[in-house]
Amino acid sequence: MFTRKKLLQGAAAGIAATAFAPRALGEEVAFDPRNWTSVRAQFALDPRVTNFSTFLLAPHPRPVRDAVARYARALDRDAKRYLDRQEDMNAAEQRVRTAAARYLDVARDELALTDSTTMGLALLYGGLQLSEDDEVLTTTHDFYSTHEALRLRSLRTGAHVRKIPLYANARTASVDEIVSSVRRSITPRTRALAVTWVHSSTGVKLPIRAIADALRATPVLLCVDGVHGFGIEATTPDQLGCDFLVSGCHKWLFGPRGTGLIWGRSDAWSAVTPTIPTFDGRALRPWLEGQPPPPRGIPGLPRAAAMTPGGFHSFEHRWALADAFEFRRKIGRARAATRTHALAQRLKDGLAEVKRVRLVTPHSAALSAGLVCFEVEGRDPFEFVDRLYARARIVASVTPYSRRYVRLGPTIANTPAEVDRVIRAVSSA
Ligand SMILES: Cc1ncc(COP(=O)(O)O)c(C=O)c1O
Repeated sequence: MFTRKKLLQGAAAGIAATAFAPRALGEEVAFDPRNWTSVRAQFALDPRVTNFSTFLLAPHPRPVRDAVARYARALDRDAKRYLDRQEDMNAAEQRVRTAAARYLDVARDELALTDSTTMGLALLYGGLQLSEDDEVLTTTHDFYSTHEALRLRSLRTGAHVRKIPLYANARTASVDEIVSSVRRSITPRTRALAVTWVHSSTGVKLPIRAIADALRATPVLLCVDGVHGFGIEATTPDQLGCDFLVSGCHKWLFGPRGTGLIWGRSDAWSAVTPTIPTFDGRALRPWLEGQPPPPRGIPGLPRAAAMTPGGFHSFEHRWALADAFEFRRKIGRARAATRTHALAQRLKDGLAEVKRVRLVTPHSAALSAGLVCFEVEGRDPFEFVDRLYARARIVASVTPYSRRYVRLGPTIANTPAEVDRVIRAVSSA
C-alpha cells in the first residue's frame, strides 16, 4: 500500500540516487576506467546508503555481473556440452590463472585457485611439510582463519604453533618494533612465519618486505594472509618478498564472491602437500590408467595446480574472476592503490579532528592500507555502528575480534564526498 511516509521515503531515495544512477533505467553507460564516477557506476550498490563496508563481501561490478550471468546461462542450458565445448575445464581455469598472473606479475604455474582466503590458509597450513621438531610462528594480531587453520593442523599432527605480539600499540607501531619482534622470536625450530598483511583488527599494514629481508638468511617460509592488501596495494608478490601470499578475490579486488588464490614462489611450493584432490587433467591421467601417481608429484603438473581443489565448483563465479582482473587492469593497479589510500587518508585526517574519536589505525600510508579503525569515547562500537546507519544510512562494521573497534573501509567504489559525509556523521552521531 502507498502511504504518504513511503512516498516521502521514495522521493528522498530518488534524490540520493541521482548522483550515481545511470541516465535512464536499462540504459547502458559506457565504462570509462579513467573516470571514478564511471567506475562507481559499474556497481549496483543501494543508492540510498553510503557503504563503507563493500570490502567485506564484494559487490560485483558490471563486467563481472555480465560474465557470471553469461556462464550461468550456458551451464543452465546444457552443462555437459558446455563443459565439453570448453575443451576441458582446465582451459577456462587457465584463462583465470593467466589473468591473475598478469595482475600479480607472477608465473601462471605459481597460482592455485581457491574459494576464499580461509580455504587457502587451511590448504597451506594443513599441507606444510613439518618435521616433529619444527614450529610455526604466528602472531596475536591474525584473524580467526589463520589461528584456527594452525590449531586444527596442530590437533591433527601435533605441529608446534607459537603466537607472539608484533607491536604494543597499533597507532604508534613502527617498522623497527615489528621487525625486531620477529627477529627476537625466530628460533632454529621455526619453519614458517604465518602473518597477515593488513590486520583487520586494527588496520595496521605489516612491512612484509622488511620482515622478508630479516628472514633472508633463515630457512623460514614467510606465509601471508594478504586479503586486506590484495586489490588495494600495487605491490606484487615479488616486491613483497614473501614465500606464500593467500587471498580471497571477493574483497577489495571486487572479484566474484567465492573466489580466491594462493600464490607461492616456484621453489617454495614443494614444501606443501595437497589435501583436496585436484581435477587438473594431468593429475587424473595416472589414475585413469591405473598407475599409482609418484609420491613426490606428477611430472609436468605444477604443485600449485595440484593444490587447486577439484570437484565441480560454482564455475560461473570462478571463470568470471578473469573479468574481475580485466576490470581492475583497465583501471590500473597503481591508480586503484592511490585512490584507496587517498580516501583512507582523507578519512583519517577528518576523524582525527573529531572530539572523542581515537584512531587506532596508524596515520602513515606505509603502515596502513584501506581499513580505518577507531573508538569513540564512552560509546559501544555496535551501538555506534547502528546509530550511523539509523541516522545517516552509513554502513560501517565492527572488528570481529575480542577487542572491538568501529571499522570503515573506503574502496574504489567510494568518493571523497562520501568520506566527508561519513566524517560529519561520526561527529554528530
Ligand atoms: C584478515 C582476514 N583474513 C581472512 C578473512 C576471511 O576471508 P575469506 O572470506 O576470503 O575467507 C577475513 C575476513 O573476512 C580477514 O579479515
